[in-house]
Amino acid sequence: MLSTLLTCPIDGTPLSSIDKQLQCSQGHHFDISRQGYINLLPVQHKKSKNPGDTKAMLAVRTAFLNTGFYHQIANQLNQLAIEYLPESHSFSTLDAGCGEGYYFDHFFNSLPQQPISSQPNEYIGLDISKFAIDAASRRNKAITWVVGSNKNPPVKAESIDLIFCTFGFYHFAGFKKILKPGGIVILTEAAPNHLIQLRKIIYPEVKQSTLPDISQATEMGYQLLTTQSLSYDIDLNNHQLMNLLQMMPHFYKSKQAGKATAKKTELLRCSVDVNFRVLKLM
Ligand SMILES: C[S@@+](CC[C@H](N)C(=O)[O-])C[C@H]1O[C@@H](n2cnc3c(N)ncnc32)[C@H](O)[C@@H]1O
Repeated sequence: MLSTLLTCPIDGTPLSSIDKQLQCSQGHHFDISRQGYINLLPVQHKKSKNPGDTKAMLAVRTAFLNTGFYHQIANQLNQLAIEYLPESHSFSTLDAGCGEGYYFDHFFNSLPQQPISSQPNEYIGLDISKFAIDAASRRNKAITWVVGSNKNPPVKAESIDLIFCTFGFYHFAGFKKILKPGGIVILTEAAPNHLIQLRKIIYPEVKQSTLPDISQATEMGYQLLTTQSLSYDIDLNNHQLMNLLQMMPHFYKSKQAGKATAKKTELLRCSVDVNFRVLKLM
């Protein structure tokens, strides 16, 4: 079932489902794809023909995530989300920059599917890459998958209880428009030692990374409620290592020499080091 919270990306009015399309009152219409997802990213909002992650990045990301190496990240994220979701009534959630849907699918499957009230829960996965949304729509048919931008999510104002932004590009102003007052954003981010051993292989010098400054969010009315971390090691063979490398922007940023060393590395113990920040819109 499609979410009832989607809006027209051109004029912001509600969309309703007619035949195999979504239409707004102004006559703008958007096809529902054969896989069941909707493209709500108009050409005039695109900076390139195919924005976001590429088909190749998505294929290796699915292969890597399906091995289960990041299962613990998904588990901790779910526990955190459940803590902040309303207990007594149905809720609406959005995964901003959902990629190929691994984390949102995991979240969906971790919850009882019987809604608490007659109003069903809402699950919207949003990504600017049509390849990501196409892959996500094959992973889970019960979630509404939408091609669109975090900058201006095509979703009703003040309708969302919780936004996930997992290794994504957050737009706090865009999130603010669609969050209910008191709504929650969970940022899952790479902490300083995340994949440090892999970064040492591909870069001649590894800079100490820090978590992005989110003071801009505080100025907009978000409050940081809590921070959690998660660290563990994973042992990667060459195939898994190359999938991991190719699913990230590091692959495009690193020089040939670094990539060649990675290609020759047979086994690597790598640190997973992740940070979760929970923000509330006051
Ligand atoms: C590093 S990937 C993370 C994907 C997924 N959350 C995961 O962890 O597997 C970042 C994702 O953000 C998407 N993206 C980039 N800019 C975006 C934007 N402005 N709005 C929505 N998605 C965006 C990319 O297409 C990509 O799928």
